[in-house]
Amino acid sequence: MVALCVFDAYGTLFDVDAAARVAAGEPGGATLADHWPRLSADWRRKQLEYTWLRSLAGAHVDFWQVTQDALDWALDAAGLQDAGLRARLLDLYRRLDPFPEVPEVLRDLQGQGVRLAILSNGSQAMLADAVASAGLDGVFDAVLSVDDVGIFKPAPVVYDMVGARFGTASADVLFVSSNGWDICSGAAYGFRTLWVNRAGAPMDRLHGAPDHMARDLRALPDLIGGL
Ligand code: LAC
Repeated sequence: MVALCVFDAYGTLFDVDAAARVAAGEPGGATLADHWPRLSADWRRKQLEYTWLRSLAGAHVDFWQVTQDALDWALDAAGLQDAGLRARLLDLYRRLDPFPEVPEVLRDLQGQGVRLAILSNGSQAMLADAVASAGLDGVFDAVLSVDDVGIFKPAPVVYDMVGARFGTASADVLFVSSNGWDICSGAAYGFRTLWVNRAGAPMDRLHGAPDHMARDLRALPDLIGGL
């Protein structure tokens, strides 16, 4: 019986493309009009690469620093040196839109008596801002940040935080992530897994494979009822 559902945050609950997309649509955002999809993709790719590289190197800094460093790389790559734009993108990143189905799905799961948690690379302060701005305060039983272990996913010590907090066996947890590498690693760790393959990406060839796949979270309430 799965009574605990643990979500990755960025890309799974919160739309990481929203910052660049929203900024591009604002007055003064004309410089982003053609560039924003590329800028957003570079920002995300570098952000993730920096988490893995810093974890390998034993050179941890928190996710907010990594997010700023990655944005600086992406702005450089786009030839956009604009302090105002940088500040605006970072401000928007603190209150990313949730994907449209998220609030209703979480309410449905709560109604089924399922406990809910976030397990994220995000810093505690970033996650608190994201949860609050999405109107999700009070929904999660725990918001677990890698701040507490000083290394990023997919280090197993990050996934250990779930059992340490809830006293659950890994097989009694459904882990939900849109990141292929995260869901493969969670599966290898022993969680039950739902890969929210929002991008229609190929399966990562790693040391584990997800149990279930869906394009968004709408299938989750029925899925968890049957587990
Ligand atoms: C997170 C990143 C991996 O929220 O999306 O942990």
